[in-house]
Amino acid sequence: MESANSYWADRALLEWQVELGADEALEELPVDRYALQVPVEKSVEKQDIAAAPAAVKPAEVDASFEARRAAEAAGSLEDLAAAMTAFEHCELKHGAKSFVFADGQPGARVMIIGEAPGRQEDVAGKPFVGQAGQLLDKMLAAIGLDRSAQALENAVYITNVLPWRPPSNATPTPEENAMMLPFLERHITLANPDFLVLMGNTPCQALLGRAGITRIRGQWVEAVGRPALPMFHPAYLLRQGAAKREAWADLLHLKSKLRG
Ligand code: URA
Repeated sequence: MESANSYWADRALLEWQVELGADEALEELPVDRYALQVPVEKSVEKQDIAAAPAAVKPAEVDASFEARRAAEAAGSLEDLAAAMTAFEHCELKHGAKSFVFADGQPGARVMIIGEAPGRQEDVAGKPFVGQAGQLLDKMLAAIGLDRSAQALENAVYITNVLPWRPPSNATPTPEENAMMLPFLERHITLANPDFLVLMGNTPCQALLGRAGITRIRGQWVEAVGRPALPMFHPAYLLRQGAAKREAWADLLHLKSKLRG
């Protein structure tokens, strides 16, 4: 009787949460379940573990090293996507619905790099499809670029520093960015654009080792062996309309580079 009651109580609670808009059974922060302490069986004494040969103790994994090895082995964008999908060391993977690799035309002269998928990108499996993405499309259209263009001179290629949505759209941690950086660098090399556009602080921090977008936007720098232009992120422009003026100046900068 007790368990039937608790079934209906649990069910009512769940329905109430769905009505309130809960749509994901996620915790606030990623949990590395591999790192959780496994309770030691009573029969296994501490000294047995200490006496165990080193070979049977769990080895420390250097996730960045593993990422670099997997990224460098990728000879094509398809290989790279497969290597990233198989990479198990980033906890974000376990909380995301989709692996969001890229959109647009590989080989385009311009490659846009954002931060990480948001909710809509996680659902669609494509970068920059939400409100910020729609603004990005308008900004690109203003200088004759289009992610669905076939001709490489007006095409763009779009990706993010991270391919998995952080829970609650949290800003990616430096550890997550550093772990996934080898894949981003390989992604750029394989897509081989003439110019990079770094949208906001996260790609600047990952690729240039510095943030402070208000100071560094609009100045050409170098990343992964090619010119890169830091710009305000479209999500920031949605909140701070006045900054669109600087974003427009940066777009014209990019346009003149493409012509030059
Ligand atoms: N913001 C980003 O940085 N990337 C996306 O794909 C969507 C929103």
